[in-house]
Amino acid sequence: MNSDSTVSPAREIFPGEVFVNTADFDSGIRRLLPKYDEMLDVLVGCIASSNQRILELGCGTGELSLKVLECYPYAEIVAVDYSPRMLDFARAKIGAAGYESRWTGIELDFGEWANNPNFSGWGDKFNACISSLAIHHLEDEMKLKLFQRIRESLNAGGCFWNADPVLSESTAMKDIYQAAREDWALSQGETLAQVRASVGTSVSYGYSNPDRLATLSAQLEMLQNAGFETVAVPWKYYGMAVFGGFVN
Ligand SMILES: C[S@@+](CC[C@H](N)C(=O)[O-])C[C@H]1O[C@@H](n2cnc3c(N)ncnc32)[C@H](O)[C@@H]1O
Repeated sequence: MNSDSTVSPAREIFPGEVFVNTADFDSGIRRLLPKYDEMLDVLVGCIASSNQRILELGCGTGELSLKVLECYPYAEIVAVDYSPRMLDFARAKIGAAGYESRWTGIELDFGEWANNPNFSGWGDKFNACISSLAIHHLEDEMKLKLFQRIRESLNAGGCFWNADPVLSESTAMKDIYQAAREDWALSQGETLAQVRASVGTSVSYGYSNPDRLATLSAQLEMLQNAGFETVAVPWKYYGMAVFGGFVN
């Protein structure tokens, strides 16, 4: 999501941090992406409501965590992110909202977790795994490994939902998706280039890289190959989708 080659090295960021200043993220992401809140709200609505032990991958500043904790009073979240500055921001926000007893932030690369089947630091299995705007930074081989690791970490009846940009199906579709983002920025009184002025340049870090988008159909196939019995797409808007599924 960040591809401005004119920025200086001082603006280098981890893939997924998006903005040079963490404090710009919450407003900036809503200006950069059409329907960010709607997308996350659909994801939240796909989680069943009771006694949820939830794993979140790439929690960022905690916006998705906050929505889940507000919606489900019994939800407890283990939230993973490799960026100390994003985790610190999320921790402060969750604490200010009074949810710290139901939220644990862990600094870790989720690619590391996917690659290490013996990792056992998080206790029992989870009822749900959620992620937004993070997994698209992995190479496809790692996406599949991660989906398999998530599958193994879910209780029977558990679900995984991912909100992420997807690779355009063709050049024509790419142009259409790009125009939608330009229109979104203009509808708020600025150009996409103006919104991107506060976006940094991401360089590969750990298992993540600047965008490594895969098509929605390729990722649904990966989910099936990883052992998800039900695979679904509850939301799609131009180049963004919420997709995932359930295990038996
Ligand atoms: C664009 S932010 C999205 C944050 C939040 N999920 C949201 O929707 O607002 C992506 C987050 O994923 C994290 N991230 C990216 N790759 C990661 C990895 N391999 N391991 C852990 N965190 C990662 C980044 O540090 C960043 O905080």
